[in-house]
Amino acid sequence: MERKKVSIPYLHGKKARGEPISMVTAYDYPGALTADAAGIDMILVGDSLGMVVLGYESTVPVTMDEMIIHAAAVKRGAKATFIVGDMPFLSYQADVKEAIHNAGRFMKEGGSDAVKLEGGAEMADTLKAIVDAGIPVMGHIGLTPQSASKLGGYRVQGKTARAALKLLDDAFALEQAGAFSLVLETVPDRVSELVSKRLSIPTIGIGAGAGCDGQVLVFHDLLGYFDRFSPRHNKRYTNLREIIVNALSEYRREVETRAFPTAENSFAIDDAEFQSLLQALGEVHPEVMPG
Ligand code: KIV
Repeated sequence: MERKKVSIPYLHGKKARGEPISMVTAYDYPGALTADAAGIDMILVGDSLGMVVLGYESTVPVTMDEMIIHAAAVKRGAKATFIVGDMPFLSYQADVKEAIHNAGRFMKEGGSDAVKLEGGAEMADTLKAIVDAGIPVMGHIGLTPQSASKLGGYRVQGKTARAALKLLDDAFALEQAGAFSLVLETVPDRVSELVSKRLSIPTIGIGAGAGCDGQVLVFHDLLGYFDRFSPRHNKRYTNLREIIVNALSEYRREVETRAFPTAENSFAIDDAEFQSLLQALGEVHPEVMPG
């Protein structure tokens, strides 16, 4: 049976019923097809694209044009899953009009259902302007990778009472501005549980413990497809890299030993047609002569 398209009221209903929300990143058509087939609630076309797909050192160099190409590919694969496009660095920070324009590109060109942007209370006005333009927005607080340099690296956020209070203030400001959901990244579990309980919108955690209303992981991390590093918050459900390297090595061996391709993987030409071809070329090979 075809799954019904996931909507914001459905996600809010899950929070109200205490049912956890599943989210995973995806960056292309096969990734989206598989996330959709697995019944995942939400796909994030994350700017982690820059690190796990494009090979950049951080998410900072990712451009809007790159994000749109990948968002559109995800859209073609995910029929029921709710799709969130991640606004890349400097696509929303400098100017509110530019932020609305870029958020709109995710909907018009990428086919996304919503966008996500990083930042706390300081981003509330921008977030509200995008929501007022008719585009649902997900907030993202705690460890915000686009400002890792300002935060002093990829560190746990909200570890002191004061920092946790600031996190709560940021969460309320974004909820007030109209965010439909919030990502909490790398935050102590008791702090994110407290934030989650005090908000009416669902929180989606990554490295933020079990008290969030849902969880998100990076596709390549959870599948063990990317082994440059495995963050502590990640759980590897399989080792795709090893599976792929083994398959590719076997393929290479079979090519080198001519074990591949066999007749099963090849296509035949009619004997008479081949004979005519050879005659046209002035060659006659007795082994292909009929009879
Ligand atoms: O880009 C991304 O993958 C993200 C998640 C870590 C939430 O923003």
